[in-house]
Amino acid sequence: MSDYLPLNNIYCMNCEEGMRYLKSDSINLTITSPPYDNIRNYNGYNVNFEVVIEELFRVTKSGGVVVWVVGDKTEIGESCSSFKQALLFKEKGFYLYDTMIFQKKNPTPLNHGRYQQCFDFMFIFSKGKPEVFNPIMVTCKTAGNYQSKNKYRHTAEDTLSPLHKKGTTKSYKIRNNIWEYAVGGKKDKTIINRINSAPFPTSLVIDHIVSWSNKGDIVLDPFMGSGTTPIIAFLLDRQYIAFEISIKYFNHANREINRIINTKSSDNNLSSFISKIKKFDEERILM
Ligand SMILES: C[S@@+](CC[C@H](N)C(=O)[O-])C[C@H]1O[C@@H](n2cnc3c(N)ncnc32)[C@H](O)[C@@H]1O
Repeated sequence: MSDYLPLNNIYCMNCEEGMRYLKSDSINLTITSPPYDNIRNYNGYNVNFEVVIEELFRVTKSGGVVVWVVGDKTEIGESCSSFKQALLFKEKGFYLYDTMIFQKKNPTPLNHGRYQQCFDFMFIFSKGKPEVFNPIMVTCKTAGNYQSKNKYRHTAEDTLSPLHKKGTTKSYKIRNNIWEYAVGGKKDKTIINRINSAPFPTSLVIDHIVSWSNKGDIVLDPFMGSGTTPIIAFLLDRQYIAFEISIKYFNHANREINRIINTKSSDNNLSSFISKIKKFDEERILM
């Protein structure tokens, strides 16, 4: 019998232990959000980030990507845990491929003597150059307009490289790297029921899965909470594996995954949600 954990399952385990049972160089994409400092009490589990990040490097395929969604605790100053983790990823061999922002449409109002805190980081780490990048496109405001001049940009060598050729502006361009979503399970009106584990907005997971993976790829979430990542991975025909240390969150995610698998074809809302996200996976044009 193989010592590796079967895919397309979720496990109630400390991920530091669980990831040891994953094959080296096997995971295409990880989407996860670790506990942020001690902002929420997840029964006091402490994460050894050194171990988690080393294991992530071992299990990630060459060309694979880790999307690490994280924020900091603020007392008088910010904890800087997210920056420390980003540097640790680099130390362990990952590239920091992009620093993206998850902007919150509805941040919790805080009276803390500074501007309203309204974002988390979405660090994109890669093992080598990402093998898959399926960019999400947005409509160009100036689509169809005629540009009469060629435009150039200065390069580091102080030469000019072409930016835009004269002609008509294209209909679509690559989306920018600040992505906005509403937070809070109840406001996220999708077919997935979540509990209060600071769940990911469902669209955030959809957007990253379509961007950094293809059908059949393996998607990991070592801190799965309510199970948003494995559920969306399943619905988008990716393989998945995920860990959760809390039995309460694990049981919830397990019930939800089983409900979705078993009602997939008989539930109209679910079927139309699945058709919508599959179409998005093929076309990747943001409305
Ligand atoms: C920020 S939440 C993740 C929420 C998740 N993205 C979702 O959509 O619901 C972090 C989760 O990590 C879990 N956790 C904490 N330490 C863990 C560990 N060592 N191994 C696995 N899970 C852990 C917590 O119980 C919590 O559910």
